[in-house]
Amino acid sequence: MAGSDGADLAAAVSAAGGLGSIGAATMPPDSISETADAIRQRTNRPFNLNFFCHQRPKRDPAAAARWIDRLKPYYAELGIPPPDDLADLFPAFNAALCDLVVDLRPAVVSFHFGMPERALVERLKDAGCRILSSATTPEEARLLESAGADAVIAQGADAGGHRGVFAQDWRAGSGQIGTLSLVPQVVDAVQVPVIAAGGISDGRAIAACFALGAAAAQVGTAFLFTPEAKTNPMHRAALKSATGDQTVVTNVYGGRPARAVANRFVREAGPIAPDIPDFPLPFVASGPLSRASQAAESGDFVAAWAGQSVALGREMPAGDLVRELADSAQVVLSGLSAAT
Ligand SMILES: Cc1cc2nc3c(=O)[nH]c(=O)nc-3n(C[C@H](O)[C@H](O)[C@H](O)COP(=O)(O)O)c2cc1C
Repeated sequence: MAGSDGADLAAAVSAAGGLGSIGAATMPPDSISETADAIRQRTNRPFNLNFFCHQRPKRDPAAAARWIDRLKPYYAELGIPPPDDLADLFPAFNAALCDLVVDLRPAVVSFHFGMPERALVERLKDAGCRILSSATTPEEARLLESAGADAVIAQGADAGGHRGVFAQDWRAGSGQIGTLSLVPQVVDAVQVPVIAAGGISDGRAIAACFALGAAAAQVGTAFLFTPEAKTNPMHRAALKSATGDQTVVTNVYGGRPARAVANRFVREAGPIAPDIPDFPLPFVASGPLSRASQAAESGDFVAAWAGQSVALGREMPAGDLVRELADSAQVVLSGLSAAT
């Protein structure tokens, strides 16, 4: 969960028997190495490094200027200067990042927005890494499998944060299948194990995903409530008060669809802005608004990423949450088998 995770959270999850993950896509290479070292100081269990495989954004100065102009009243209101231009803040996974990851040798490397080129996938596999990536449709799952994924994450529309959509035109409204419908279709579409994701916040949902044929469950939003997460205070406040019907898919922060708790910025500038520049350029425009909003102790412009099960979130240490999720899923599963 890029920006909200860190060594403390990943190590606590891995040490408790889960697979702790680091959203490394937005981190400079030095921080990725430091974070991997910090996890290894805390636990010798496997962990996952996650990267983005988005298309290089089109640089269109006129479109960038139009988007910045659209947001100018907000910069004026918050008393901050608008950016001069939009820039590509973080690169997609590339050969240099692959060198770094091969050196670090995490047990698992996962991707969002597709897969890297085959040569990079092979290098990671030769280094002993298992490869995962997210699919939002059965078709995307098949593409990931043929591109070398060892397991596919079936990310339902319920999920918090960015939709992993990469083979559909999300602007046309596709890529929005809910977890309950998506998981069995992906299980039928591929031979590799399927990891269910999206709206999974307790043992009942994990048990349901196993019933649908998933081999594992990926949990995001529920961990944003833990003390180890770097969830910023305005994000935490939004999570605590949100109900599931208050999350929406929006592209106003970074230019790609992502589920977040609706706030003033999402409602007024989106939730879907059709003319927004390509991901990840708009983060240059939304970042200063978010920081100024946080400084003013307002959530109006802060990206409060959250899935539709946000209201089930509980504040507890991450290791306890992993154990509680596993134990309660087992209780549900044994209850179901006793009933049959
Ligand atoms: C705050 C936040 C940040 C996320 N960042 C990433 C990311 O960097 N890479 C990624 O593959 N998925 C990311 N996701 C999506 C998760 O991998 C996962 O699909 C999602 O959290 C599952 O749904 P849930 O939040 O309802 O549990 C993020 C989700 C959240 C909530």
